[in-house]
Amino acid sequence: MGSRAQREAWLHAVLHTGNPGDVAFYRRVCAGARRVLEIGCGGGRVLLALARAGHEVTGVELHRGLLARLRRALRDEEPAVRARVRLVAGDAARIDLDERFERVLAPYNMLYCLLDDDALHAVLRRAERHLAPGGRFVFDVYCPARIDPGEAARLEGLAGEPHHVVSFEADGAFVDVFESDTWDPRRQRIDATYHYAIRRGDRVERAVQTIPQRYLYPEQLERALEAAGLVLVERHGDFDGAPFDPDEGLFVGVAARRDDTR
Ligand SMILES: C[S@@+](CC[C@H](N)C(=O)[O-])C[C@H]1O[C@@H](n2cnc3c(N)ncnc32)[C@H](O)[C@@H]1O
Repeated sequence: MGSRAQREAWLHAVLHTGNPGDVAFYRRVCAGARRVLEIGCGGGRVLLALARAGHEVTGVELHRGLLARLRRALRDEEPAVRARVRLVAGDAARIDLDERFERVLAPYNMLYCLLDDDALHAVLRRAERHLAPGGRFVFDVYCPARIDPGEAARLEGLAGEPHHVVSFEADGAFVDVFESDTWDPRRQRIDATYHYAIRRGDRVERAVQTIPQRYLYPEQLERALEAAGLVLVERHGDFDGAPFDPDEGLFVGVAARRDDTR
């Protein structure tokens, strides 16, 4: 039933449908910008919408299955849209592109894919360095629940029972996906493990994939932005400008290079 990278790309496309209103938000926030860089562009949900709206977009993505899927999706786009898309395979912590961008985007919890402070700092530094003068770095993440240290110790490493999350059909196979999560509140880490049952006729193939995530409290993320030379200029609780609440909802942030705010 295809490669592991292909299976992971299927799952990503089925599960990563974004938050309501996020694509419209990123379109609004990019209004007037010619060049846009998206770090961790995944299957191109946001990237393609921006290219269709007339922006020149560059997407950086680490996962080769997702990039392959995005390249295939591009074939169905108008030639003019295709011509506005540049895809870069690799780690956003190491990019050194030959252009600067009016917007650099990290949508849909991308920053939580960075599992330690060094990786987070490296990506934010690269984002800052790729901003054109006056440009903006824009991201969204969820605000995690706060729990007291005793409760954190109790929950450490506790694995939930697998539960059914989604079923889908792709390339003639019927795929049932179950998820079990391990939550380590002291390390701020959630490891989501997906168990697949892939049916083709009478044959059932099984596969397992773990997607790790390190979440951040808003004050930690703000400190990381500052350390990378970025200053938060806007902060919202959703994509329609709701007031920010550090204890729930989303952290939708817009940051500028420190040099631009002096
Ligand atoms: C949560 S998904 C968001 C995808 C996309 N931005 C969207 O809104 O649908 C995060 C993406 O970042 C990619 N990613 C994680 N770490 C990365 C890194 N260091 N460099 C480039 N891409 C990365 C993942 O493979 C994944 O596709």
